[in-house]
Order: sequence, then structure tokens, then C-alpha cells
Amino acid sequence: MPARIRVRSLAKINLDLRVLNRRPDGYHELRTVFQTISLADTLEIEYQRGPTRVEIKSKLNIPGNIIEKTAHSVLQKTGRTGRVGFVLTKNIPLAGGLGGGSSNAAAVLLALPPLLGKPLPIGTLLELAAGLGSDVPFFLLGGTALGIGRGTELYPLPDRPPLPALIIRDEVHSSTAEAYQALKRPSSPREPDILNFQASAWGGHQESVNDFEQVVFRQYPQLKSIKRKLLKLGAAPALMSGSGSCVFGIFGGRAERDRAAELFRKESARFRVYPVTMVSRSRYRALWRRQLAAFSEHTLWPPQDRYAE
Ligand code: C5P
Repeated sequence: MPARIRVRSLAKINLDLRVLNRRPDGYHELRTVFQTISLADTLEIEYQRGPTRVEIKSKLNIPGNIIEKTAHSVLQKTGRTGRVGFVLTKNIPLAGGLGGGSSNAAAVLLALPPLLGKPLPIGTLLELAAGLGSDVPFFLLGGTALGIGRGTELYPLPDRPPLPALIIRDEVHSSTAEAYQALKRPSSPREPDILNFQASAWGGHQESVNDFEQVVFRQYPQLKSIKRKLLKLGAAPALMSGSGSCVFGIFGGRAERDRAAELFRKESARFRVYPVTMVSRSRYRALWRRQLAAFSEHTLWPPQDRYAE
């Protein structure tokens, strides 16, 4: 009998995002505040011992699939062989700045080792995660977190209330690597922006900035109009997420958020409209403990194999 598990893989937004400078390794030095949200893909994972074979079924054809890559890295690290099958139901828009692929990779890192009966310590998972993509480590932790360096050095920030948010996706596909290049950052950091970022990270939303807006909004002015409209409808803040192209607004209450959702839906069929809620670290971990309850011990993070010594 194969071992089976079904997990939800949550999306993120960046509550603030500063790109400081180019680094010698080709990446950019970041300061960002990550936040998990309730929008989620569903991933079913099945494992059966035998020769190694990794298969994925999804309605979407996702190039260079990060899920398969992650499964191979977990099999290699745990020394197990076998057939790993995935069924992916995608709800998180692709290339929208919401970390969908990264979240799927982290979901495999969290769920597959207990399914194989071979738990891996958080240090090993973080290392594998950073090798898979800059946003992957965050999804091992969840909630609100400060990301620095490539975005892989993470520190927890206090949980924020589960505020309602609205995500708007226009039919625009912005490329992450191109957005970084378009910023034309120097190779030395910019101090004043760090001070301003601190104010935002400590103080909540008032001064939120996403440095990518400058270059992405120039190319796609319709995204700037979405931001303006969200602000007008009472969002604070309204900001692009990651390198785009989704724009989100955070609202004080559900009624206000739902009214805004309705107006965007009416305005154009081009918009995909996603009403969501911010998910705190404690809720994120409770979700993961529930998801892995059949396979793991409850008190540790990440959830460990219940039968491990
Ligand atoms: O790490 P990840 O594969 O998600 O990054 C995609 C691309 O985004 C990188 O190849 C790089 O061009 C750019 N990037 C960057 N600095 C970062 C993160 C990503 O320049 N901190």
C-alpha cells in the first residue's frame, strides 16, 4: 500500500520589499517582510518503495518543475528510493509574485520526509530550500518574517492580526530576472533606504514600499491604476507583491474588502480577484501539524516522524 498525504500549500505577499545592491554572486541584497496568506494550492503526494520515479499530474504544464526537483533532492538526502506521485491543483497564479512554486517546493520538503519515515532537521531543510529558490526557505517558517540577504536569511517578526486582503491579477507576465536587471542597482548598498525600511518593518503599514513598482509600473501602467484604485477603496497599504504582477490591498474589515472585490470583478473580466486573509505563524504551523498529524510527532518543528527514535 502506498503512503498518501494531501496538503495545502499557501501563498505569500511581500508587505515591504527593498532591493539594495547587486552582490558578487549575481543575486541582489534584499530587505523584505514576507507574509503568508490563505490562498493555497493543493498537493497530493503518494510514496511507494521501489525504483525511483517521480511523476506529477497537473492541469497546467509548468516548465522546469520545482516539485519534481525537490522530490529528487529529498530522496537523495534521505537515501530512500521509490515512486513519488504528485497531483497538483493550482489556485495560486503563476508568475504573480505570490511564491506559488516556492510554496509547493517547501510543501514537498515538509511533507515528503515524514511520508518516507525519514524526518530531516530544519537546518537541512533550510539548506535544501535555499538551493531550490530564494523564496523557498520562508515557506518552511510562515507567518510574518523579515528576509535579508538573498531573501533566504529569515527572522521571525511578531504575528500580525489576520487582516483581510484582496489580490488583483491582471493579464501581465513580468519576469523576475528582468525586473531585477531593470532596477540597475549599484554594487554598494543604499543606507537611507534601510532606515526607511526599518520604520516600515517595525511600524506596520504606513510607509510600505516595493522597489519593483518603479520599473514594473513603468512597463505596465495598468498595474499602477490597480494600486490607485485599491487605495481609493480604503486599502492600507496597496502594493505590488514580489516582482509582480499581482497587486494586493490590505483592508481593515471584510465588508470593505468584499465591496472592493465586487467593484474589480464588475470593472473588467481581465481581472482575477482573490479575497484572502493574512495567516500568522501560529496558524501556519497549526495547519502543517494538522496536515502531517498522521505521520508525525506534534510538538516539534518541522513535524518529525512519529516512529523515529
Ligand atoms: O532564487 P530564485 O531562483 O528565485 O531567483 C530568480 C532570479 O531572480 C535569479 O536568477 C536572479 O536573477 C534574481 N534574484 C536576484 N536577487 C535575489 C533573488 C533573485 O537577483 N535576492
